[in-house]
Amino acid sequence: MAPGEECSVLVHEAPCLAPPHNNISTVLLVIAMQAEALPLVEALKLSQDDTLVFPKSVPWIKYSGIHDGLHIHIVVPGKDAVLGVDNVGTVSGALVSYAAIQALQPDLLINAGTAGGFKAKGACVGDVFVATEVAYHDRRIPIPIFDKYGVGATKTIPTPKLVEALGLKLGKLSTGNSLDMSPQDEEVIKSNDATIKDMEGAAVAYVANLFSVPAILIKSVTDIIDGGRPTTEEFLENLSMAADALLKTGICVLKFLNGKSIADL
Ligand code: ADE
Repeated sequence: MAPGEECSVLVHEAPCLAPPHNNISTVLLVIAMQAEALPLVEALKLSQDDTLVFPKSVPWIKYSGIHDGLHIHIVVPGKDAVLGVDNVGTVSGALVSYAAIQALQPDLLINAGTAGGFKAKGACVGDVFVATEVAYHDRRIPIPIFDKYGVGATKTIPTPKLVEALGLKLGKLSTGNSLDMSPQDEEVIKSNDATIKDMEGAAVAYVANLFSVPAILIKSVTDIIDGGRPTTEEFLENLSMAADALLKTGICVLKFLNGKSIADL
């Protein structure tokens, strides 16, 4: 789906063939940055409601509500207590996913966020991708078998009908804890065959896999890593546009899920 395009016609097309007990009822969205999450929270009219779910001492936030027949929860890892910036990266992403899965027992987890993209692999700023596979690029352990463990390449669940209905792009995602890319990272990202690069996806997918929760990773491209512009400049310039693309896609994805099972995706 191109940014700005409406989805109302597309999402009503697919009939629901699954028995009702298999239908997706509870969806957990894990989103790292407030700027990425809040447009969706507002559009869905979700309410902040985390007191019974997360320990008092943590900055994690949960927004919940019912929309189009789905119980929707958006969790964000909140802000660093000292520096006041979003708790981005794999540690906070994994922790908040763990706590939210335990408390909410979702039928589906969606990790939505921004990513850098490689133009050599077909990515453009504003594109929204669904990750077909996740892997890490900053867990280098050059010992046989631990090397594969470090990379942690894992396929995601197939969602061909969703991808086609919404006109999303497909690509492999590589995750690491840095916004920039060291030469060593670059080498592993290339061997991961990644089209997009983020800072949480593989870790969130790992936690979902631990608990057999199907996970979809939806990433909106803010910057072109092989495009010649400084990543930080391009990222900050395009963050609100990418958040808007994520909002539009997120709404369409949730509409598409209505009355469907995981197998219908
Ligand atoms: N999120 C947005 N752009 C990114 C990049 N270039 N690397 C990692 N995460 C990102």
